[in-house]
Amino acid sequence: MAEPTQNPFATNVTRTVHRTSYPAIAATRPELIQAGKTVLITGGTAGIGFAIAKAFIAASISTVVITGRRQEQLAKAVASLTDLAAAAGHGGKIIGERSDAADPASIDALWASLAERGVIVDVLVLNVAKFATPKPLFELGIEHVWESFEVNVRGPLHHAERFYKQVGAGGRPKVFLPTRAFFSPVAALPLALLSP
Ligand SMILES: NC(=O)c1ccc[n+]([C@@H]2O[C@H](COP(=O)([O-])OP(=O)(O)OC[C@H]3O[C@@H](n4cnc5c(N)ncnc54)[C@H](OP(=O)(O)O)[C@@H]3O)[C@@H](O)[C@H]2O)c1
Repeated sequence: MAEPTQNPFATNVTRTVHRTSYPAIAATRPELIQAGKTVLITGGTAGIGFAIAKAFIAASISTVVITGRRQEQLAKAVASLTDLAAAAGHGGKIIGERSDAADPASIDALWASLAERGVIVDVLVLNVAKFATPKPLFELGIEHVWESFEVNVRGPLHHAERFYKQVGAGGRPKVFLPTRAFFSPVAALPLALLSP
């Protein structure tokens, strides 16, 4: 059995950690080509979400929808991804939607806006998550704990329900890529709860 780790965020199960992409998962592999599909990536304007958007463009995705809360960052990311799709030469379309992944009204508005445009999402990437420095629950405080619940549990559940209930999606296969926090046994609470 693997030894426990000192770092509460580290895993003692995954022995090989990749920091760069490698041929076995290359986005350009024919079986991974996403032409004709639409992906929605929450928090796709920066960091991991933005990198995921770039990978889908490399895989010839037809439409990428990215969300974020800051309009300026959203516009910048859409412009950059649009240039990338144009350079790739497959006519991928990039849509930016200002939306807070933890706010119910904002989530409803996002899915309503997509429905109005006739956009049906095939792949949902729930990238937004909130993490805390491991601390006892009451040191974190109710505000922080509850915000974590809304970002890590309520928001993802809300997105997932809208995704599965899309009108007109019919029998189209759906791919759901949630953040790790969604399936955590302590999903409703920060990892800090596990500390003494
Ligand atoms: N699941 C895991 O195991 C794991 C591991 C590492 C990181 N993460 C999480 O993965 C996400 C990406 O990490 P990163 O390093 O790429 O972070 P980053 O560079 O700070 O990017 C975060 C992205 O998410 C957006 N965002 C943050 N909160 C949001 C919200 N409530 N609603 C909508 N968009 C939101 C940001 O835009 P705005 O600020 O403009 O909204 C930005 O586009 C983070 O949420 C991080 O906590 C998860």
